[in-house]
Amino acid sequence: MARRIIIDTDPGQDDAVAILLALGSRDELEVASIVAVAGNVPLALTQKNVRRVCEVAGRADIPVYAGSVRPMVRQLVTAEYVHGETGLDGSNLPEPKMALQPQHGVDHLVDILRAEPAGSITLCTLGPLTNVALALVKAPDIAPRVRELVMMGGAYFEGGNITPTAEFNIYVDPQAADIVMRSGIPITMMSLDVTHKVLSTRERVEAMRAIGNRCGVTVANMLTFSEKFDRNKYGTKGAPLHDPTVIAYLLRPELFQGRKCNLTVEISSELTMGMTVVDWWGVTRRPANVFAVNAADADGMYRLLNERLARLP
Ligand code: RIB
Ligand code: CA
Repeated sequence: MARRIIIDTDPGQDDAVAILLALGSRDELEVASIVAVAGNVPLALTQKNVRRVCEVAGRADIPVYAGSVRPMVRQLVTAEYVHGETGLDGSNLPEPKMALQPQHGVDHLVDILRAEPAGSITLCTLGPLTNVALALVKAPDIAPRVRELVMMGGAYFEGGNITPTAEFNIYVDPQAADIVMRSGIPITMMSLDVTHKVLSTRERVEAMRAIGNRCGVTVANMLTFSEKFDRNKYGTKGAPLHDPTVIAYLLRPELFQGRKCNLTVEISSELTMGMTVVDWWGVTRRPANVFAVNAADADGMYRLLNERLARLP
């Protein structure tokens, strides 16, 4: 039986690739719904981009919701310098035709987690954790009903990508991340420590294009745009491929390694705001609240990604 997941996301090209990886894996994953959040670009664009991606995959049947328009406390910080003004630059996808669900995404999370059997839904978060945190504040009873939360966010050994110490998703809404880390939900963290080890090199991107279907070509075009900033910044042969690691982990956990440890989020110091303080060596007595992933079989992940993209239109 396919594992039921809800994707919470701020597309973003890498979010789009993650969504397509999930949609290309229908035997193993059932995407119950997708909730947009403000992050890489404002919510007005991320909610459209989610629908664009569903349509390019031929999945206009998937319920798409708009969630939070801004972080819980701080002002929204966006990343057009990476993703372009649309958030999906390079994709050339048309305006979406499928409808946006009328209910607020946070209320949808509360309702579906209360309605579905406890432990039947996995949350896959690819952006700031604002929607999940607000749902937990509104309805604390949903926390034990979540099977697992697999998130792209945070960093420890790698350092930050938007400040010297913080990763973007956590930095945008550190208070939300703090709430989620303290929720008791089983959390798996795909941080920069692992995403910087699965680089979308030219060879890997062109292998996606060579699949030849519209999804493969669209992914190659999107990554060719979005990789520019990081390739220049890091001087590497490719950009880190962040969000697809969340879905790849659900599909093939054996491709990844990590350890259970404590993760505490900095929400006081402006200097280190949003830093994910990972007690990797167990030097504190703080509870081990996350499975922190720091290694991957990169070739295995890209083989999986290409195989699933090939299943799409
Ligand atoms: O730091 C990388 C994360 O921030 C990714 O999820 C990317 O899409 C952006 O949201
Ligand atoms: Ca994202």
